[in-house]
Formats: sequence, C-alpha cells, structure tokens
Amino acid sequence: MDLISTNDLSDEHLTYLLDAADNWFKFNRQLRKSDDRLAGLNVVTAFFENSTRTLLSFDIAARRLGAMVTNLPVDASSVAKGESLMDTAFTIDAMRPDVLVMRHPQPGAPRDVAGWMDCPVVNAGDGAGEHPTQGLLDVATIRQHFGRVEGLKVAICGDIRHSRVANSTQNLLERLGAEVRLAGPKPLMPDLYDGPDGIDHAIEGADVVMMLRIQRERIDGDLGDKPGEYLSHYGLTAERLAKASPDAMVMHPGPMNRGVEIEGAIADGDRSLIRTQVEMGVAVRMAVLDQATIERRTRKTA
Ligand code: NCD
Repeated sequence: MDLISTNDLSDEHLTYLLDAADNWFKFNRQLRKSDDRLAGLNVVTAFFENSTRTLLSFDIAARRLGAMVTNLPVDASSVAKGESLMDTAFTIDAMRPDVLVMRHPQPGAPRDVAGWMDCPVVNAGDGAGEHPTQGLLDVATIRQHFGRVEGLKVAICGDIRHSRVANSTQNLLERLGAEVRLAGPKPLMPDLYDGPDGIDHAIEGADVVMMLRIQRERIDGDLGDKPGEYLSHYGLTAERLAKASPDAMVMHPGPMNRGVEIEGAIADGDRSLIRTQVEMGVAVRMAVLDQATIERRTRKTA
C-alpha cells in the first residue's frame, strides 16, 4: 500500500508501525542486522530535492530487509532533458520495481505518481505538504523516551508555514493525544495563526521542544535577519530551554543550522534526542517498507 499522507494511516496501522519500529530499533543495535523478508524485491528511490537522512535511511532500511536498492540520480537523469513527471513514473514502472520512495518539491506529486504506477509509493517529503515517515519517527522517538505520547506538551517552533515535518508530526502527535503548540516568527506562521510572535509562550512547561530549520529554499528573497539575530529572537537558547519542563527533551528533524534556530551546545547536550531521531528513522523506514510490500509479497503473481 501507498504511504502518501499521515491521514492514510488507520489508528490500527499507526500503532502497528510504531510497535514494529521499536522492534527494528532493537534489532538494529545488533552487530549483524540483516533480515531477508524483502529478498528479491527492488526498492527504487527518486529524490527530486536534496536529502541526507531520509535518502540514506531508506537505503539502509531496505538493504537490512534484503531488498535490492536502486537510486535514480535525478540531476543526471532525463528530467534535466525536460521529461515530465508522468513519463518518468511510467518509465520507472516499466522496470517493475516493488516500491518507489520519492521526494519532490511539488505538494501532491507523490499522490499523482502513485496513480500512474503499479507499485506502492512512499512519500519521502512533498514540498511543504507532508513527510509521513518523519512524523512517524518523531512520535516513535517521543514514545520510546517518555513511554507514552498522550498528555505530553510538544512545542514545534520555527518555520511552521513551509514545514511538511510540522504538518505530519503535528497530525500524528494530536491523534495520539499530545498537546501540540506551534510557534515562530509571525511571517513564518500559517496565515490563520493569530497567536503571539516568538516561541517563549510555547516552550513554557513543554515536555518536548522541537526546532525547525527556516526553509529558505521555499521563501522568495531573504528574511533580512543578520547573523545571530534569528537565534536571539526565535532560536532555542539555554535561557529559553530553562522555561520548559525540567525533564524536557529537545528534537530537530535536521538538517540543523547551528547558531540560527538552535544553539550548538543544546543540540549536543544530554537533553537532545536529535541523534535518536536519526536512529529511529532507519527503524521506522524498515517498518514502513515491510508494510508497504506485504500485499505484493503474499500475491501469487508479480
Ligand atoms: C526535513 C525535510 O526534508 O523535510 N528533513 C528531513 O527529512 N529530516 C526538514 C528540513 O529540510 O528542514
């Protein structure tokens, strides 16, 4: 089955994926970590936007499950010769892959592609739309650390307006009973936002403070901020973090801009779950790839 939006997940499916991710997390801490449930299947990755964590973790996840992985190097592909997304999808589909993992700057592109392909499509981020596996890894990380999600206060701070991570993570957190507080500079908040400017109100008493990068590639012109200015007005500093709950943890989906939205010492400190998020990312993607291919694996003909 496809995974395009967090809304595609039933409650049952969501719980199943989070439990499976916990198991894969432990599995991945073994010296030898290989399973063969995807043996003989081909996972294709096509990233029309840059990526470090998401691309690498899907690749590692697929290989740990025994799949063959093929990456389409988009910049060197016929996309640069003007081939449309539809023709690119038809071309990939004709090679009979078993899953396509794709990232694209256009919100909705993975849904369109899923309609053109026979194999399941997993959305690895569509512009400012959704990033369902990031949402899953964020809630899995919180659930693992705190033992629950329900009742936690989670502040998501920064460029909310352009963030697909905020969309997916907020959706899953709220479904699991967390209180989500969105905050940031007014120009980077959604149009309907009518709360105060800044992030202090959201951090007050929060159990989790999740910081987001400014998505400068989605903003026309620069924000006019001078070096250090964003951090002092809207970034996570030790003084701001002191206002959160005494056991509060800090998260960031990466990539981080140290000294902009977060002080480097906080990112590396003992309140940081940032590297655990990355580790959980591999586990979540193993759970997702396993689920995405179950129907295909139990089918008699390919
Ligand atoms: C995010 C993304 O690409 O949406 N990164 C990620 O996948 N971990 C966040 C970002 O680019 O700021």
